[in-house]
Amino acid sequence: MKKMIFGALFATAAMLSAPSAFAQTVIKFSHVTTPDTPKGRGAEKFKELAEKYTDGQVKVEIFPNSQLYKDKEEMEALQLGAVQMLAPSLAKFGPLGVREFEVFDLPYIFPNKDALRRVTEGEVGRQLFAKLEPKGIKGLAYWDNGFKIMTANSPITKPEDFHGLKMRIQSSKVLDSQFRALGALPQVMAFSEVYQAMQTGVVDGSENTPSNVYTQNHYEVQKHGLESNHGYIGYAVIVNKPFWDGLPEDLRVQLEKALAESTEYANSVAQRDNNDALEAMKKSGRIDIQKPTPEATAAFRKALEPVYTEMSRRIGQGTIDAVLNAAQPDTTQPEGK
Ligand code: LMR
Repeated sequence: MKKMIFGALFATAAMLSAPSAFAQTVIKFSHVTTPDTPKGRGAEKFKELAEKYTDGQVKVEIFPNSQLYKDKEEMEALQLGAVQMLAPSLAKFGPLGVREFEVFDLPYIFPNKDALRRVTEGEVGRQLFAKLEPKGIKGLAYWDNGFKIMTANSPITKPEDFHGLKMRIQSSKVLDSQFRALGALPQVMAFSEVYQAMQTGVVDGSENTPSNVYTQNHYEVQKHGLESNHGYIGYAVIVNKPFWDGLPEDLRVQLEKALAESTEYANSVAQRDNNDALEAMKKSGRIDIQKPTPEATAAFRKALEPVYTEMSRRIGQGTIDAVLNAAQPDTTQPEGK
């Protein structure tokens, strides 16, 4: 009898530990925007391609719209291995101790997406990712969202209009400095909490990309908008490093291929998503979105200049200079789109 029980136990244990032909690797991908955003679409594309290229050996489970974790918690969850993949905005790496990423938040640092790409796809982009490795995180790709608009419940056409306004920001000291330079009162808040904070008057306004303002319905609780394009929001697609390094080589190669293609896809749909969102909000009649006059843009640029000096110690002047240099067009080559 005893022998039979041992035999059964042994067989069960062997079954559990033996690699089965159907063993599946699960990648939990948590993020905070809705599926119909540049990041949401990128994540869906990655799932589709990752599962296809690995013949179903990898399953990608996406948890959008802060369903699983909010901004700060998702970083902790990734480090603990509770999820394997995230795509936080570049403005959210400061609390992790990697302040250099906040360089992306400097006002007017990128005149256009070409300039941004020269940074993210070059040496600077690689060096920034290397800074994540001691934190147990591996950076795999940069995904676009777009340039930001301002929103508030009072007219905001010029810098003085921001005096005394409570503005929600992401957890970046550069964004804090930016709004203080305008005389506003910045408040760090998780993305998922912004709608309610706007509705109840906990904050007066915020800044975000049109696609985020639209898909989170912020435009329903904000009366005014300004197409200031004063800053950029993009993402770092990151994974738990021990998990990634522990994957069988053949699977990792297929996942890298899936990621390269989904990066191209996400970046190709981002601008359209933002244009569509802007148009839909204007059509809704719920929010009055203005373009700044050239004088107003000049005044915003001037008012925000001190942010560079104020933040140079935090980010590192070397990083700021490297980004400014890398962003310069190569005048020997024609400019791409
Ligand atoms: C925010 O927190 O404002 C956004 O950057 C969220 C996101 O991931 O786009």
